[in-house]
Amino acid sequence: MTYKIWENLEQVEKYANKRYKSWDQRWISNRELNMVAQMVAENNLSGPILDCPSGFGRFHHILSKAGEVHGADLNHFAVEYYNKFISDNPPAIEARAEDLPFPDNHFKGVFSFRLIQHIHTPEDRIAILKEYARVSSHWVIASLYVSSWLHLLHRSIVKMPSKITMITQNQLIEEAKSAGLKLKSMDSVIPGLHANRICLFTPEK
Ligand SMILES: C[S@@+](CC[C@H](N)C(=O)[O-])C[C@H]1O[C@@H](n2cnc3c(N)ncnc32)[C@H](O)[C@@H]1O
Repeated sequence: MTYKIWENLEQVEKYANKRYKSWDQRWISNRELNMVAQMVAENNLSGPILDCPSGFGRFHHILSKAGEVHGADLNHFAVEYYNKFISDNPPAIEARAEDLPFPDNHFKGVFSFRLIQHIHTPEDRIAILKEYARVSSHWVIASLYVSSWLHLLHRSIVKMPSKITMITQNQLIEEAKSAGLKLKSMDSVIPGLHANRICLFTPEK
C-alpha cells in the first residue's frame, strides 16, 4: 500500500489539511471533484450511496447532493475523523471493501475513489468489484489506473517509486465482467498524460 496508514486522529487531520495543499495536487483534486459531480449529474445518479473507501471524506460534499452518503473505510481513525468533522448522519463505519457488512442491493450506488490502483492482483480487484456490484442496485463509480503504451514505455525507462498497479482497458472490462459489472463510461483525469480514470459501471442483475 502506498497511502499512509493512519495511527491516530491527528495524523488524519494533518493529512486532510496538507495532502492537496500544493497547487498541482489541489488542481488534480478539484478536477477529480468536478468530474465526479459532472458524472453524477449527467447520469442522474442518486442515493443512497456507499462511499468506500471514504478516507477523510473528500467527496462527501459532492456525493451528498445526489443522496444520503454512507462512509466506510478500513481505517479506524479515518472513520473517527469522518464522523467528527464530515458527517455522522448516518455514521461512517469501519469495513473492508472486499467484505461489506450490508445486504444485497442495500444502496443505489457505490463510490470508490483511489483504492483499486493499490490492489495488485486480478483476484483481489474482482473480489472488491464483486462486493460493490452486490450491494449496489443501480451504479458503481470507481477510479483506477488504466495503462496506455505511453505509460508502459515510461515505466520501462523510469523506475517509479510508488507501487501503483495499472491495468489495460481490456483487462478492466474483463475483470468488471467477472465481478458482474458492465463498463458504461470512462473518463481520463488528465487526458493523454495520467493513467487515472473515473469509470461508471452498472451491475448486471
Ligand atoms: C488514498 S485513500 C482514498 C480515500 C478517498 N476515497 C479519497 O479519494 O480521498 C485510500 C483509503 O482506502 C482505505 N482502504 C484501504 N484498503 C481498504 C479496503 N480494503 N477496504 C476499505 N478501505 C480501504 C484506507 O484506509 C484509506 O482511507
